[in-house]
Amino acid sequence: MHSAATHRTPPTVARPEVQALRSSKIREVANAGMDRKDVLPFWFGEPDEETPDEICSAAVAALESKRTFYVQTLGDPALREEIAAYLSRWHGRIGVERIAVTSSGTHALMLALQALLNPGDRVVAVTPLWPNLVEMPKVLGAHVETVALEFSAAGWALDEQRLFDALVPGTRALLLNAPNNPTGWTISREMQEAILAHCRRLGIWIVSDDVYQRICFDAPCAPSFLDIAAPEDRVISCNSFSKAWRMTGWRLGWIVVPPAMLGDIGKLIEYSSTCAPPFVQAAGLVALSRGEGAIARTVERLRQGRDHLAARLGQVPGVDLAAPAGGAMYTFFRVDGVEDSLAFCKQLVTGAGLGLAPGAAFGPEGEGYLRWCYASSTSRLDEGVRRLAGYLENNPITR
Ligand SMILES: Cc1ncc(COP(=O)(O)O)c(C=O)c1O
Repeated sequence: MHSAATHRTPPTVARPEVQALRSSKIREVANAGMDRKDVLPFWFGEPDEETPDEICSAAVAALESKRTFYVQTLGDPALREEIAAYLSRWHGRIGVERIAVTSSGTHALMLALQALLNPGDRVVAVTPLWPNLVEMPKVLGAHVETVALEFSAAGWALDEQRLFDALVPGTRALLLNAPNNPTGWTISREMQEAILAHCRRLGIWIVSDDVYQRICFDAPCAPSFLDIAAPEDRVISCNSFSKAWRMTGWRLGWIVVPPAMLGDIGKLIEYSSTCAPPFVQAAGLVALSRGEGAIARTVERLRQGRDHLAARLGQVPGVDLAAPAGGAMYTFFRVDGVEDSLAFCKQLVTGAGLGLAPGAAFGPEGEGYLRWCYASSTSRLDEGVRRLAGYLENNPITR
């Protein structure tokens, strides 16, 4: 028999890198208000409309025909072909030899990072950014440096030189999300070309989070590195059915990698999820082949939401707002005097019945800001603004 004196067992906790991960501050606010019926929530990034019927019916039909068994690790060949055809319509030829189906955009991003990162690797991320993307490399022991977008009345912008100064030799990967969560910032083709040339020179991988690519207000599809990169370039594109096709709960996405990497991505899928559920993949196939009308309606509604919210918020004294951004589904704004966004968001939940995401959730660069997801009806947005304005009037912020 072992005694404590002779045999010391390690404490029953996760390894230090995992313990050090930050938990989501968006969740922290949501957990404080989710059970309250009087709270109007705008904290999560998802359309408030359901998945289109045609997509749901495809999953139901697949279940009725008992497509309930394990399927190919890289995805149903028919879906991979459909993704290839879809991507080729936007970006020029992208072949199935580069494509794997994943169990969400989050999964695609984690696979990309697992394929690339060693402990101690240096990664650069453009922030403010969806918090998961900054924490995920840390699960693998990598070190994340950030380059902040800059805020002005004209909108959010990336200073190219500051980015290049951070992308020094030895950097393993650049993580970029455009259209961006939380700022809505979109990247120009010229800047993509300059970044690709810089990363090519230094052998740096670009991991492009393209999940808001179709939620773009200036073009039917936002510029992508896939448009300009050769198949053999160090570029990985991660995508999702969640946002454009309104399928957040389905957990389906895809990844595009250089052809030589696809076999190893297959191994990582095998050892993380085995395969995406076949009936969910059946729904994804219909989304891609017949979903364009639904995307167009979603984007139009989001455009209305974006413009409506900007106009109304702009009238609230103390609110500092940039010009409406080109993509995604968020307004990222400041309220005069708010320094601790987490505490302020918690006060809004209890004091105003309003659920927003704290800017601090998106990195230190986001502190002082609030994120409002405008994927909602204009009447709900109006009610939200009314609650914010009322709260600020009754609880003036003192500095
Ligand atoms: C920037 C960004 N990337 C990736 C995702 C993940 O999407 P999903 O895992 O639902 O496919 C999200 C979700 O909010 C996001 O905002």
